[in-house]
Parts: sequence; C-alpha cells; structure tokens
Amino acid sequence: MTKRIESLNIVENKRLNKDFFVLELSGKVKIPEMRPGQFVQVKVDGSPETFLRRPISVHDVNYGQNSMKLLIQIAGKGTETLSRLMPGDDLNIIYPLGNSFSMPQADQNILIAGGGCGIAPLLFLGKYLLSAGFHPDVLLGFRNTERIIEFNEYKDLGRVFLTTEDGSQGEKGFITSHSILSSEKYDRIYCCGPDQMMKAIADYSRKFNIECEVSLENLMGCGIGACLCCVVDTVKGNLCTCIDGPVFNTKDLKW
Ligand SMILES: Cc1cc2nc3c(=O)[nH]c(=O)nc-3n(C[C@H](O)[C@H](O)[C@H](O)COP(=O)(O)OP(=O)(O)OC[C@H]3O[C@@H](n4cnc5c(N)ncnc54)[C@H](O)[C@@H]3O)c2cc1C
Ligand code: FES
Repeated sequence: MTKRIESLNIVENKRLNKDFFVLELSGKVKIPEMRPGQFVQVKVDGSPETFLRRPISVHDVNYGQNSMKLLIQIAGKGTETLSRLMPGDDLNIIYPLGNSFSMPQADQNILIAGGGCGIAPLLFLGKYLLSAGFHPDVLLGFRNTERIIEFNEYKDLGRVFLTTEDGSQGEKGFITSHSILSSEKYDRIYCCGPDQMMKAIADYSRKFNIECEVSLENLMGCGIGACLCCVVDTVKGNLCTCIDGPVFNTKDLKW
C-alpha cells in the first residue's frame, strides 16, 4: 500500500475529558483506503523537543466525507501540543502505516476487547467488521467512570460490555474477569490496550484455544522500519512493530 505524506485540515478537536481528545481531519485530496489496525505518523509542529513524529492509530474513517479521526491521550509534550490544535489548522501525517487486523472466517463468534487509549483502533475495526457482515461483541475496560470514553460510539457496533477497576460502572475488575468471558464461547479476539491487559487476554485465548490478535503500541522512532527501535521478539525472530505490526497474532509473540 503506497504511503503518503500529506497535510490534512483539522475539522474538529473534541475534548472528551482531561486526558483524551478526538481530532477529525479532512483530506485536501482524496484520502486513501485504510485498513483497521493501521496508523499514521503525526508531525508535531512548534515543539522542538518533539522532532520525531508520533504514531497514532486510525480511529475512524468516513470515505464519503473524505475524513478520518484520531483518538489521542495526552501522554507528554507531543500529544499535549496536538491537543491545542484548532479547526482550520493543518496536521501533517505519513500514512497509512503498518499491517492490519486479519478478517475472521464466516460464522466466527468475535470479541473486540480494549481499554484506555488502546480502544483507538477498535472502533474502525468494529465498523469494518460490521460492514463485512460480522456482529462482534465489544468488551471495554476503564479505571473508573470519569475515564470512560466513546462508549456510545461502540454501542452502535452491537453488544457492549464494560468493566471499571473501581466498580463505578459495569462489572468491577479487569476485562479478563468479566462474566461474558465465562458465559460466551468466542472463536476470535481482537485486543488493544495496556500491555498487561493484552497479555492477560493472550493468556485467556491460549487457555481456550481462541485465535487472538493484539495491536502493540511499542515506542517508535521512524515508523518505517529504519531505526529498529520498535523491535519485538517473536517466534519468527525480531520483527519491527512499525512495518511487521503493529498487529500480531499472540501465537507469534514470546509472551
Ligand atoms: C502503533 C501505535 C499506535 C498508537 N496509537 C495511539 C492512539 O491511537 N492514541 C494515543 O493516544 N496513543 C497512541 N499511541 C501511543 C502514542 O504514540 C504515544 O503516547 C505518543 O507518541 C506520546 O508522545 P508524547 O510526545 O505526548 O509523549 P512523550 O513525551 O514522548 O512520552 C510521554 C510518556 O509516554 C510514554 N510513551 C511514549 N510513547 C509511548 C507508547 N507508544 N506506549 C506507551 N508509552 C509511551 C513515554 O515513555 C513517556 O513516559 C500509539 C503508539 C503506537 C506505537
Ligand atoms: S520505528 Fe523505526 S524501525 Fe520501527
């Protein structure tokens, strides 16, 4: 898939809470077809400390409106600078980068699971699956009610199950302790979230022989396979998260 460097126009910068915001970007030329799991490398202007581009997942795409969305958590200087972008500003990105989630087989019972900013690539994935005729369940985990984001967006995909660590909404605990995992038999799980969450989901999938793919959010430098700072140890040897991933089948990861 050809990579492009383009400046897109900010249509909206929607603040979800103290830490999260959604940037809606409009293409000045026709945006390319993208696959769920792919990411963009964002240039952060006006901040000399952040000369390296920041990798951000494609959160949603609307080809009809020639627009896409990025869901971003403020983690440091780069994302904080991005949080101050205004409608009308430009955002320069390299995209689409990385591989993508693989499609399920017909009739597979699918779960999409994630938490924190890891839910970013999962909305695009869910919509993609829905348009292909699949009806995934969604399981989302957050620390507490204040940190729940985008819940209604995911409700449009089908059944959505929720956990909070403090029990303030949904079932109390982590997503791997949610009762749906004992009452439902899934054939395939897609997951993105903190490493501990993905590792726990990988363990669960291994135990019940479920096909599982995770999207890794390793630290990145170049994003195009040149600097090797995103290497991950797999049964196939050292692979770059940016070009061989970010999506990996958990059978391939040495977790
Ligand atoms: C493929 C991929 C997709 C991503 N998608 C998203 C997304 O959709 N939304 C989103 O909010 N974030 C996403 N991230 C993480 C995001 O790239 C980082 O949070 C961001 O680069 C931090 O930049 P910063 O300048 O704000 O913070 P920095 O000043 O660079 O870092 C602040 C703190 O965050 C830590 N950090 C930086 N990068 C990462 C990372 N990749 N994972 C964990 N901790 C990190 C640093 O170690 C440091 O402690 C993704 C990362 C990857 C690799
Ligand atoms: S980020 Fe440079 S090789 Fe992957």
